[in-house]
Amino acid sequence: MTPPNLTVVQHPLVVHYLTVIRDRRTAPREYREMTRRLSWLLVAEATADLPLLPTEIETPMEGGFVGGRLAKPTVLVPVLRAGLGMVEGALDLLGESSIGYIGLQRDEETARPVGYYNKLPPVSGARVLVLEPMLATGGSLAAAVDLVKAAGADDIVCVCVVTCPEGAETMAERHPDTPVYTAGHDRELDPRKYILPGLGDMGDRLFGTPH
Ligand code: URA
Repeated sequence: MTPPNLTVVQHPLVVHYLTVIRDRRTAPREYREMTRRLSWLLVAEATADLPLLPTEIETPMEGGFVGGRLAKPTVLVPVLRAGLGMVEGALDLLGESSIGYIGLQRDEETARPVGYYNKLPPVSGARVLVLEPMLATGGSLAAAVDLVKAAGADDIVCVCVVTCPEGAETMAERHPDTPVYTAGHDRELDPRKYILPGLGDMGDRLFGTPH
């Protein structure tokens, strides 16, 4: 059963792009492009409930047309390193966004994520999209959301590419108020905490570093 705050985005293009990046033969150039396109579809869903401000404009044909513009700013927060692969796609849709960066690494003694970089723009009053492609144990994403909340955010949505039950449960326990959107909810973690069937190491595949 998927936790109530997890949404698996259903769209044939999501399945298509995700299958391309799961394929072990896909090289970094195509990998980055497909991740960008997946980010469009995921970000569109993760912002589908954004409030609009009614805005009167003139079209070239006549005045008095009432449309809508986004009523609040947006902030993108990629979790380093793999989250960087989703920034360009998110900016294609939300080009006015400010961008914060969070870097976390595993403390080898405690196995807990420890922050090594945290640079956030003002987040109060904004929709904050935390970009973390692989939700494995959930420790890093939960810690990133802790940091974003501590900075004053109260409207946070997480955007992942692949999730698994352990990570989704961690998020449901630690941040039940924070929705998580994903392209695929996979079976399980292997003993090294990689997602199965997954897509391997997202950062390595995006940036062409050997695993
Ligand atoms: N991070 C990755 O890049 N891949 C996984 O499967 C798990 C964590």
